[in-house]
Amino acid sequence: MVRPRQPINTWPAEFTMDDHTPIDTADGPAVETPGVGARRYETPPTGRPIDDPEAAREAGLAHNEHLKIGSRFLRGGLAEGLLKHATGAISDDDGQLVKFHGMYMQDDRDLRPERTKKKLDKAYSFMIRLRIAGGVVTPKQWLILDDIATTYANGTLRATTRQTFQYHGVIKSNLKRTMAAIDSCLLDTIAACGDVNRNVMAATNPAQVGAHKAAYDLGKEISDSLLPKTNAWREIWLDGEKVVGGEEEFEPVYGKTYLPRKFKIIIAVPPSNEVDVFAHDLGFIAILDKKNKVTGWNVTVGGGMGMTHGETDTFPRTADVMSFCKPEDALKVAEAVMTVQRDWGNRKSRKNARLKYTIERYGLDAFRAEVEKRIGKTLEAPKPYKFDGNGDRYGWTEGDDGRHHLTLYVPSGRIKDVEGGPHFLAGLRRIAQVHEGDFRLTGNQNVIIANVSSEKRQEIEALVDEYGLTKGAGALRRNSMACVALPTCGLALAESERYLPDLIDELEESLERNGLRDDEITIRMTGCPNGCARPYIAEIGLVGRGPERYHLYLGAAFDGSRLGKLYAEDVDASAIKTTLDPLFADYAKGRNTGERFGDFLIRAGHVAKTTNGPDFHERTGALTPAA
Ligand code: HEM
Ligand code: SF4
Repeated sequence: MVRPRQPINTWPAEFTMDDHTPIDTADGPAVETPGVGARRYETPPTGRPIDDPEAAREAGLAHNEHLKIGSRFLRGGLAEGLLKHATGAISDDDGQLVKFHGMYMQDDRDLRPERTKKKLDKAYSFMIRLRIAGGVVTPKQWLILDDIATTYANGTLRATTRQTFQYHGVIKSNLKRTMAAIDSCLLDTIAACGDVNRNVMAATNPAQVGAHKAAYDLGKEISDSLLPKTNAWREIWLDGEKVVGGEEEFEPVYGKTYLPRKFKIIIAVPPSNEVDVFAHDLGFIAILDKKNKVTGWNVTVGGGMGMTHGETDTFPRTADVMSFCKPEDALKVAEAVMTVQRDWGNRKSRKNARLKYTIERYGLDAFRAEVEKRIGKTLEAPKPYKFDGNGDRYGWTEGDDGRHHLTLYVPSGRIKDVEGGPHFLAGLRRIAQVHEGDFRLTGNQNVIIANVSSEKRQEIEALVDEYGLTKGAGALRRNSMACVALPTCGLALAESERYLPDLIDELEESLERNGLRDDEITIRMTGCPNGCARPYIAEIGLVGRGPERYHLYLGAAFDGSRLGKLYAEDVDASAIKTTLDPLFADYAKGRNTGERFGDFLIRAGHVAKTTNGPDFHERTGALTPAA
């Protein structure tokens, strides 16, 4: 079935394609964007963001800007709200501020109908996200994190798509105890959510030891340096000493208004793009010499996933490769990129506030020039690099220093004990009791038992077997990700983590029939268009539209450098399979050697190629019916 074309993009006419698109491997009908070469950009603002309440009102800034200005550096009414025992909730405004402390107020949506019938309040609880730069934790930390999961949360640890852990189901009266326990293992949740620099991700691959260490060190340095300086977190959650007259505090980098929106930084080490560098606001791609030594970093800017259904001026965008910088300049570059966004980002409309829109509005050249001005030097042009995929390498690998690393496949990152199935929680607890290396969380929701000595390897292996921990899975499954969605996420329109495993069962049957069982194809699902599991850069992307209905996106690049395109709207479970089945058959018959599924679909004319964010909503639908 050929679908009618979408109406023309509502993105303002003066915006056309940016010429800095990531490396792209697929041939095919690229989208003609009207007005290329005639692009006009707006003039960027000068000076710091408005932080005076009256001026903010006059300028019509978003409600969250007022909240931040009046929050006394993120305190708001949180301390008082925690003492209100009559409700498990906190006020709406504090609900916004608590994000900066790494928490989201949620309720169990499965219980909503019954509780409404009984005229009960919603079943409120909190999601707590940790800040773990580069996703590295020691066995000692693991054991404490495990203990918190069973004592205060819902008995699971959730490894996220951004290399950290989340807890679900922590009730208000346990929040302070949970935070104290997190603090006891020298971790925290500061800036894990909110309009700040979030958890910094860094390449997980411990096999390229030197490069990995450089990536981790840079990630940690950036994370520490861009951490909010307010004492609010210690004061509220750990009963830390109060700063007299909170207004006297000083946030040298953020100021009173922090950032216009969330900001995500990432460090990648080719050839693996397992951290998905193109999906984040700011990225550093290691440029390696022949001995795998980092000689500097390509700097990427303006990636981001979130959009809103039906609003074509919101779109996902893959980052531009802006420049190359020397190792000694990387931290300065990170701070400059973030502060330009702080000053140039849209503070009136939160839907248009991410760095990706700032770059579309003012242009990459102006953005680069401002970054260079702030660091006081000109940056070099980007250097060549090559990624071969954005998945994890499962099983044992050996580092160039002789240490061993075991990557385990953890379905949707949910570390729990399954009756009759793998016992991830208990198994990893036992391993943490004997392990002498560390654990690494990957950007694909998996866990690496890293830095195992040759002597210890057998012992770890035996425990992995004893607890049934999967070292891999079918090719599609091990390249899959799903966001949390229902029942905890208040924004979910459809299931994700609870449904994707069943869908993969069905698709595996189709792949098997078409002789594609062992072919690596990426598939990702989210319960809403915010895109927490980065579905728009998966070869098969499914995004929740409503109960049991999804938009299906196809044609993204296997290495995460190109967005997919909306291929079919509002498909239900059975239609997902019947839509994909003939495309799998076509792929099996018609692909060139080594050609990836996403690339093939474009070359074979099934779906139009997305060049970048602004043409994401153009030429949607199936171009030619599958055979
Ligand atoms: C504006 C858009 C977004 C909003 C409002 C949003 C909100 C949320 C909420 C409420 C949750 C908690 C769900 C739960 O654990 O119950 C969540 C989870 C998460 N989000 Fe987002 N999100 C947005 C976009 C993104 C994007 C684009 C990314 C990554 C590129 C991301 C990364 C995550 C991660 C890592 C989790 C943890 C759960 C997981 O791994 O699936 N979010 N988000
Ligand atoms: S993608 Fe949507 S449904 Fe999924 S966790 Fe993020 S906000 Fe919730």
